[in-house]
Amino acid sequence: MFKWKDEFSVNVEKIDEQHKELFNLGSKLYTIVSAKDNVDRYDEIMEILSELRRYAIYHFGYEEELMKQYGYENYQKQKIEHAKFIEKITSISQEEVDEKQKKVSTELIAFIANWIENHILKSDMEYKEYFNSKGLY
Ligand SMILES: [Fe+2]
Ligand SMILES: [Fe+2]
Repeated sequence: MFKWKDEFSVNVEKIDEQHKELFNLGSKLYTIVSAKDNVDRYDEIMEILSELRRYAIYHFGYEEELMKQYGYENYQKQKIEHAKFIEKITSISQEEVDEKQKKVSTELIAFIANWIENHILKSDMEYKEYFNSKGLY
């Protein structure tokens, strides 16, 4: 799960690096949730959650800047999808993580997996050829 493959590449180096980091955060969360013990993971989960939020904001900003700069036609659609991701991550409360760790983390993993499938591998993939045709790699 959350293992990077070459076929995920959008052929723009910096963006691939950022996507890899998002995979990495998903993978960290997965490792924590998969631990078969009853240790309280509140601090670790909250830390990954805030790192995921921080990094996603950075990555989306980076992508949107390039889209604007190169006049990419699906810029608005991307902005909306990005905002939804941040909204979802932000909506997870400390109380929820505290009271229902397994449930919240499992849902979050499913959400990230779904995001990778539907955003990175579909929406982001759509700009690959456009950016490349503008000389951006
Ligand atoms: Fe992306
Ligand atoms: Fe995107």
